[in-house]
Amino acid sequence: MPKKEPTLRVSKIKDGTVIDHITGGHALDVAKILGIAERRAGVITIAMNVPSKRLGHKDMVKIEGRFLAGAEVDKIALLAPKATINIVKGYKVVEKQRVRLPEVIRGIVRCDNPSCISNSNEPVQTRFYVQKVEPLRLKCHYCGHVMEKEDVLKQF
Ligand code: CTP
Ligand code: ZN
Repeated sequence: MPKKEPTLRVSKIKDGTVIDHITGGHALDVAKILGIAERRAGVITIAMNVPSKRLGHKDMVKIEGRFLAGAEVDKIALLAPKATINIVKGYKVVEKQRVRLPEVIRGIVRCDNPSCISNSNEPVQTRFYVQKVEPLRLKCHYCGHVMEKEDVLKQF
């Protein structure tokens, strides 16, 4: 048994995705992004407040039989910027990817200000500057409107 995991809290998965190193308390945000409540999503395991060397405490979400779309990874980066996405095949981690939160967010989030030009009929892609990473705070490039994490989560 590996020494850093003397007791395995949740079982390994055969095929699917493990989203690891989610900042403590953010697992349910990630679960929401993945549409867990809405769809027949396969087996999902959520572990919260697991001790972690790097983060103190971390959350983890395991999804069996499913691999994430790029758009889902981009959303996860907004709410869990330290997360690692592990692709598991035949019980082995075959790919490990750190999510990346860019300084400028284009097109993933809508501006909450109804009179913002990005909400008009003009073909304008939304653009936000990251003011704070965790918890997330974004500022609209066009109208200066500030969006908090909760405002962003409502859209996912
Ligand atoms: N995992 C899993 N099922 C598997 C393989 C791995 O649920 N069949 C989980 C592990 O429990 C761990 C994560 O996927 O939470 C990443 O696995 P691994 O890379 O083996 O662990 P670490 O080396 O601890 O990862 P890191 O270096 O990213 O901390
Ligand atoms: Zn705006």
